[in-house]
Amino acid sequence: MSAQAEEVLRASKAWSSYFAAKRTAADGLPWECDYTLSNAEHRAVAGSIQQFQLGEGAEGRRLLERGKKWARSVNNPHFVTALALFIKEEQRHSRILLQFMTREGIAALRNHWLDGIFRRIRVLAGLELELRVLVTAEVIAVPYYRALGGATKSLLLREISSVILADEAAHLRFQKSMLAQITARRAPGLRCLITQLHRVFLVGTCCVVWTGHHSVFRSARYSFGRLLEESLSEMSALEAPSTESAVSRAVVEDF
Ligand SMILES: [Fe+2]
Ligand SMILES: [Fe+2]
Repeated sequence: MSAQAEEVLRASKAWSSYFAAKRTAADGLPWECDYTLSNAEHRAVAGSIQQFQLGEGAEGRRLLERGKKWARSVNNPHFVTALALFIKEEQRHSRILLQFMTREGIAALRNHWLDGIFRRIRVLAGLELELRVLVTAEVIAVPYYRALGGATKSLLLREISSVILADEAAHLRFQKSMLAQITARRAPGLRCLITQLHRVFLVGTCCVVWTGHHSVFRSARYSFGRLLEESLSEMSALEAPSTESAVSRAVVEDF
């Protein structure tokens, strides 16, 4: 096995261990806090949290199937273990949001048209495109959870936002590691074109997210420009070159 292949295996194994360790850790959230959302806060965040709770809870069966195929083709079993544990962490976000919603009397959604569109695009896609659609949501989650924490005086909701935000930052590094593996052999010109198309998709998605969730962003004094700027900056960090060993170090440092 080449040194590079060994490093890729080590990175996937490090991510598996990272997600596995976090799975058993307590959420550390202040559920005992008795603050309830004011009417204005409820109006600003309830509908938005409903949508994010639905989106975070995806089962990811197709993504896992595609991940398994890829993992077999490159003989990297840790890739699919890490992917499965990552999906479980997203589902944990969904459960935390649901627990908060239940306290606040916010009903859970069974489906939403935007979530449906995202899922339909991912059905049509291969593993890379599916990951890129997922990454788009992850990138936007960063400014979103920053804004959600800033949109309320509820200590519980602020803490939920910051715990999920920290997880999402790690998810972006994980996605970067996976995309780097999948696109390693691609010609630089084609990689550049795909990156630009991904940016266009991100800008379009920011417009849709702003339309549906501007009450949260506005409550936290976010303009559309700031949402766009922060999303593009997260995307740039994702695209910046890195070696697998740097990725592995980044994972290990999180323990
Ligand atoms: Fe999440
Ligand atoms: Fe995530």
